[in-house]
Amino acid sequence: MTENKKPPHTKSAIERSEGLPPDAYPVGLLPSSFPPDYVRGAAAPFLLSSSFLGERPTLPMIDLMLSKEKAIPVNLWGLLYDGWWPNPDEEGISVFFQGFERRGADNERKKIYVSANTPDLVATKYHAKITDFFDKLLGAANAGKPMMGRYFEYYDDLYWDLHVGATGDEIPTEVRQFSASFNTVLGYWFPTLEIVRDAYMSARASRQALKEWLDERVQRIIDGTQPDADRTFVYYWLKNGRLGENFRRIDIVFECFHNFLALSQWGNMIYNVASKLEPKYGDPKVRTWFEKTMKGGPDKADGGAFPPLERFVMELFRTISPNDGSLSSPRRHRQLLGAEFSGVTTPHRATSMDPQHWIHPEEFDPDRYKTAPTSVDNDEARAKEIGLARCPFAKASLELKDGRTGEMTNSAFGAVYGVVDGEPHPVCDTAGYAPFGFGYRRCAGEYITVEFIKEFLRKVWKEKLSFVKLDLEQPAEIPVNPGTVLHDNITFKRGK
Ligand code: HEM
Repeated sequence: MTENKKPPHTKSAIERSEGLPPDAYPVGLLPSSFPPDYVRGAAAPFLLSSSFLGERPTLPMIDLMLSKEKAIPVNLWGLLYDGWWPNPDEEGISVFFQGFERRGADNERKKIYVSANTPDLVATKYHAKITDFFDKLLGAANAGKPMMGRYFEYYDDLYWDLHVGATGDEIPTEVRQFSASFNTVLGYWFPTLEIVRDAYMSARASRQALKEWLDERVQRIIDGTQPDADRTFVYYWLKNGRLGENFRRIDIVFECFHNFLALSQWGNMIYNVASKLEPKYGDPKVRTWFEKTMKGGPDKADGGAFPPLERFVMELFRTISPNDGSLSSPRRHRQLLGAEFSGVTTPHRATSMDPQHWIHPEEFDPDRYKTAPTSVDNDEARAKEIGLARCPFAKASLELKDGRTGEMTNSAFGAVYGVVDGEPHPVCDTAGYAPFGFGYRRCAGEYITVEFIKEFLRKVWKEKLSFVKLDLEQPAEIPVNPGTVLHDNITFKRGK
């Protein structure tokens, strides 16, 4: 796209800064060793940005007035785009920061995205990749060693195997460099830190090689030369998106590396679940529920949409709430300096703990999901029942074109879910269940994320593993999640 075709709001932070007096940016707060483009593209906009806390929703949706368009923290653009600002036409885009109205009819891009990780695919196509990962992580050789460092030793292989079917030597050094740098930036977060600056510039330096590699991996899947291609996300994005405008090839490449943001949260969750199960410092209620769930039959159908282990994992997500909130770009009412770098956060934990949604929100009680409304229950009749004239989001289905019989559809509040071979795979669709966000913009990787934690717990139970908090003088620091760096101070052993 040429400069004169760009609407003014697509200018990069760097372009914007041209012509501004040097003291317009708080550069004095930054070390003089920081590269000028990094200062202008990431660090200074970050210092000008604010985050405002929004309301706790009553319904499981976020109104469209709070847009998802460009709704990511301003300091991350340079990790994703060459010009430090979104350039979707030339470099691709993720559904993650796209407004509803730009996603194609009825959230088409999102439906294509979710088609790659419905529960049937997780069970038949990705299951072995996940169990292999936990076999390695929780193998006897790692007992007694700090767990999270090991986790990240195997993480790249799992990540790329799921996306494009690559493991081991098939993953080039630059790609591993990008992943490590990206995670470091996410974890340490503040662009004012030298560790972030170094990792940021390293991620930028390796990104082109990563994209070229990814493009070649996508080509293999298109050409049919990738073994077991139908065990990768890209396969389903290609089949269901048909390389149309709502999932172009550059978008597939972009989603493949943007997903580092999403999957980084798995490590945080694993650490937190292990900590809750730790006998000395953990949560006795969680331990009791875990035993009860596994002894009683984790997968038995006992009424309701979610079997016992699923309910247990959902309650872990609600109470741990690894993701703080859903970030939106407010529609501008009046704009002052820094306003366009700022956002509104709809809080997750506070919503999950809101007494208007649950009688005892503070209790750890997986059985609360036996009767909670699901995306299948929330239809037009339900919208009327609660006093609305019509569904906030009309029901609209996208037929699967990947050889399966089924569709991706949505609830009255916009939550996307799959129906495969006549079997619906609902999600819990109430505002009180907030860890994966709300409505049309709810997490697109929820199915596989819940299964990932379920597999972790199955392995722990089957192998009779227990966790031990380590008293280390200098535990390693492990960046695991946006804004989270953990001390690598938990391990596992066989037996109680
Ligand atoms: C512990 C793991 C995860 C948590 C807690 C989590 C949480 C969330 C939340 C809260 C949102 C809503 C954000 C918003 O509305 O602003 C979201 C969106 C999203 N997540 Fe996840 N996520 C996780 C893992 C994943 C994984 C593994 C994937 C991909 C396979 C994924 C893909 C996405 C995408 C694409 C969106 C954007 C959806 C949209 O805007 O329509 N997430 N996630």
